[in-house]
Amino acid sequence: MAAAHDLVVIGAGPGGYVAAIRAAQLGMSVAVVEKRAALGGTCLNVGCIPSKALLQSSHVYDDARRHMAAHGVKVGKVELDLAAMLKRKDEVVGATTKGIEFLFKKNKIAWIAGTATIEGPGRVAVARNDGGSETIEAKSILIATGSESMPLPGVEVDEKRIVTSTGALTLDAVPARMVVIGGGYIGLEMGSVWRRLGSEVTVVEFLDRIVPGMDSEVGKQFQRELGKQGIKFRLGTRVTGASAAKSGVTLTLEPAGGGEAEKLETDVVLVCIGRRPLTQGLGLEKAGVRLDERGRIEVDGRFQTSVPGIYAIGDVVAGPMLAHKASEEGVVCVEMLAGQAGHIDHNLIPAVVYTYPEVASVGRTEDQLKQDGVAYKSGKSPFTADPRSRANARTEGFVKVLTDAASDEVLGVHIIGAEAGTMIAEAALAMEYRASAEDIARTCHAHPTVSEALKEAALAAWDKPIHL
Ligand code: FAD
Ligand code: NAI
Repeated sequence: MAAAHDLVVIGAGPGGYVAAIRAAQLGMSVAVVEKRAALGGTCLNVGCIPSKALLQSSHVYDDARRHMAAHGVKVGKVELDLAAMLKRKDEVVGATTKGIEFLFKKNKIAWIAGTATIEGPGRVAVARNDGGSETIEAKSILIATGSESMPLPGVEVDEKRIVTSTGALTLDAVPARMVVIGGGYIGLEMGSVWRRLGSEVTVVEFLDRIVPGMDSEVGKQFQRELGKQGIKFRLGTRVTGASAAKSGVTLTLEPAGGGEAEKLETDVVLVCIGRRPLTQGLGLEKAGVRLDERGRIEVDGRFQTSVPGIYAIGDVVAGPMLAHKASEEGVVCVEMLAGQAGHIDHNLIPAVVYTYPEVASVGRTEDQLKQDGVAYKSGKSPFTADPRSRANARTEGFVKVLTDAASDEVLGVHIIGAEAGTMIAEAALAMEYRASAEDIARTCHAHPTVSEALKEAALAAWDKPIHL
């Protein structure tokens, strides 16, 4: 019997839904199995989009309370309407997920609402959300089931007092105190949201620094900036237990290297110590799909698993757990399935933390270059020297451009600043084309824009900056 579809995608996150649309554009007949009530995966429903909506709203609130006066704008008493803020966030999510439904219809992609299990190459069983079941046949299967919050032994999540990021997006009152376990992306973004809204936030981090993996010079300034906003840090500390009562939560902390335990009282605990790939219940073992030592699905350069005809992309495979990485992999995978070349450079996936200031990077960090014994040059430009940043009253941070000392090729760009997330795209594009610092420095940048700081840092790495 001929397969009913060319491709069946399991999971409609930014990996799966983008792959499905691209595959349909390339002429494939595509079905997507998604168990959530809405398309868009973690990212659109409980990840990137709702967290950015709350970051934006809390930023507006913080601006009104603390920053507008400096611009000569007087506002009366500023009050928080948390219910309205959460409603707006839900509306943004709703409109965005509905947008994917529209794109599915436009591209004639069948959404089968239910939970998928792989029966073998070409066969996927679906327990439909409406209680029915069906088996889908397809030439290729693409697993894009994403990831879930990593549990912390001894700290039981109830999504009320002890929450994951999902619970932290829906708290119906501002907690007086919040402890964030894990000083990574989620901890610092959601910690910022609740800090701005009035919580006393303490971040407990196992390592002796925040956001491991980030350039350490940037990391230090980042921690200082967050500290100025009132976020407290307990580095080199681990949480060994939590007991929740009506009045709050008592945490047990220990120095990471061992030592005397202490108690910390708080109102809400956010557990965000990383995410783990979602592979359970998919029938992978039976189908013979191999996992690596960290439970991620093993794939080759074409994103094919150990079983021919079964592919995997996104958070469920190795690499940074980022939406844009999942989407790029989805596109590359289906383009290769359609006989095209497909291209992704995993060294050039930009990463952004959407706090204030934002932190963004692409390529290698200075720590990595040192560790690898690479002869490099570094050019830096602080936003205090950038006229537009001064006009905007947003002068925190700097741009750092790292280049190969011999060839001037850009090896890494690291930015901490108000618009770092937007600025990093230029660096990523330059690096995709293997630009030198001279290339960026000789590119005419509009004045006055904050992107001139990238040009100045490139000038500093290549030759001499004009404005420093
Ligand atoms: P997912 O988005 O997790 O989608 C997988 C989908 O598969 C889910 O909808 C799930 O319901 C479905 N599924 C799983 N198993 C089955 C099954 N058996 N049958 C049917 N369906 C199934 N990344 C960024 O790049 N930028 C950000 O700003 C950002 N912010 C984030 C904020 C938070 C709070 C969180 C938690 C994550 C954030 N991320 C961000 C990470 C980003 O959400 C993920 O990297 C991204 O969603 C991964 O995409 P994916 O398609 O691999 O998986
Ligand atoms: P993370 O990996 O970013 O950070 C986890 C932190 O917890 C690390 O600093 C780690 O050292 C620390 N940690 C681990 N075990 C600990 C313990 N027992 N006690 C104290 N600290 C401990 O993970 P996070 O924040 O949960 O986010 C998961 C992923 O989601 C991110 O890695 C990222 O890929 C993605 N994400 C991306 C965002 C973005 O792109 N802006 C925003 C939010 C999430």
